[in-house]
Amino acid sequence: MKVLLLGSGGREHALGRALEQDPEVDELHAAPGNPGLDAIARLHDINPADPDAVVALARELAVDLVVVGPEAPLVAGVADAVRDAGIDCFGPSRAAAQLEASKAFAKEVMAAASVPTAEARLCTTEAEAAAALDEFGPTYVVKDDGLAAGKGVVVTDDRDAALAHAVACGRVIIESFLDGPEVSLFAICDGDRALPLMPAQDYKRVGDGDAGPNTGGMGAYCPLPFLEPGFASDVMARVIQPTLDEMKRRGTPFVGLLYAGLALTSQGLKVVEFNVRFGDPETQAVLALLGSPLGQVLRAAARGELESVGQLRWLNGGAVVVVEAAEGYPGTPRTGAPIELPRDTDDAWVLHAGTALVDGQLMSSGGRVLGVVARGSDVEHARERAYWLADGIRFDDGFHRTDIGIPH
Ligand code: GLY
Repeated sequence: MKVLLLGSGGREHALGRALEQDPEVDELHAAPGNPGLDAIARLHDINPADPDAVVALARELAVDLVVVGPEAPLVAGVADAVRDAGIDCFGPSRAAAQLEASKAFAKEVMAAASVPTAEARLCTTEAEAAAALDEFGPTYVVKDDGLAAGKGVVVTDDRDAALAHAVACGRVIIESFLDGPEVSLFAICDGDRALPLMPAQDYKRVGDGDAGPNTGGMGAYCPLPFLEPGFASDVMARVIQPTLDEMKRRGTPFVGLLYAGLALTSQGLKVVEFNVRFGDPETQAVLALLGSPLGQVLRAAARGELESVGQLRWLNGGAVVVVEAAEGYPGTPRTGAPIELPRDTDDAWVLHAGTALVDGQLMSSGGRVLGVVARGSDVEHARERAYWLADGIRFDDGFHRTDIGIPH
């Protein structure tokens, strides 16, 4: 099978690595890819969010499957264009991607499907926002209604800051605060059915002990020791399957990765948000434990044949990913610093996210620069291995959290 993977981050490097290990994947292409993917795929310098450019490349390469990493191409209709060209695509249509692109749409679908979630108000004026903030009280949760690359959500006890964010965004969802630990559950969906991946936990704040501002994610681990054995089945029954059924009923079936961000609140399980693509960096940890061939599973989903896959297989033990970020992140990161990497081992490896090759030298080029992934006999062992490998990275402008893998 020939596969074209769209995207350029740490998530895509992890997806590429897993795809390349599938014995049925004999050719892997990435667009635009990154220096890490360059070692395992042929890179193509096109805009992955341009439907015509993606279809032209997929046709020229005669690929069997397109796998879309980030949300922007999905919202731009890339999956629709690829499917219209008769090529299998793992990723939802533009209409189904509204589950991530519009928080208001996601709330509407959840209400119709009786999926448990926080109470919310859609606000388009300062007066509406102020009234909603006062209705729910602190802690305030204000979400930009549109895509904001992980920067649209403000959670704060400061009413002025919450209101300022609402005014700056223009159109926001203001919600009641969900207490309790958060869990990410990814489901591979074929329009009718879904298979859950292993639940994982992300570390969203920049500093140890969950201090500082929100980021795209500073690390992740799995499996989660505090979950009941039936947790994934419960989420499938109460969240994922009703959402798939509702999307199908609306004539916009969901084919791709449905990411449920969940809070385990004192009042039970609730959805914090949906995303329509693999999470970053949880994917880097989850795929480290996947024992099933990823390319075959994603192709079956793209074809509406997930039933043929059976259950997914998982390796024993735990996995951890520690994100190495650039000084300044999540504000403006300092880029252009040289990086020297240690050698990967069988159980610990470095994934690229914000890196570039400049005259043969690896340099930082973004906020989240690297992801250090390790597998171990349990999460604690994986944590030790990940920090051991991270210690071998030479990157003067880099920093990471030191508490990834400790449940929070
Ligand atoms: N882990 C957060 C995200 O992918 O949006």
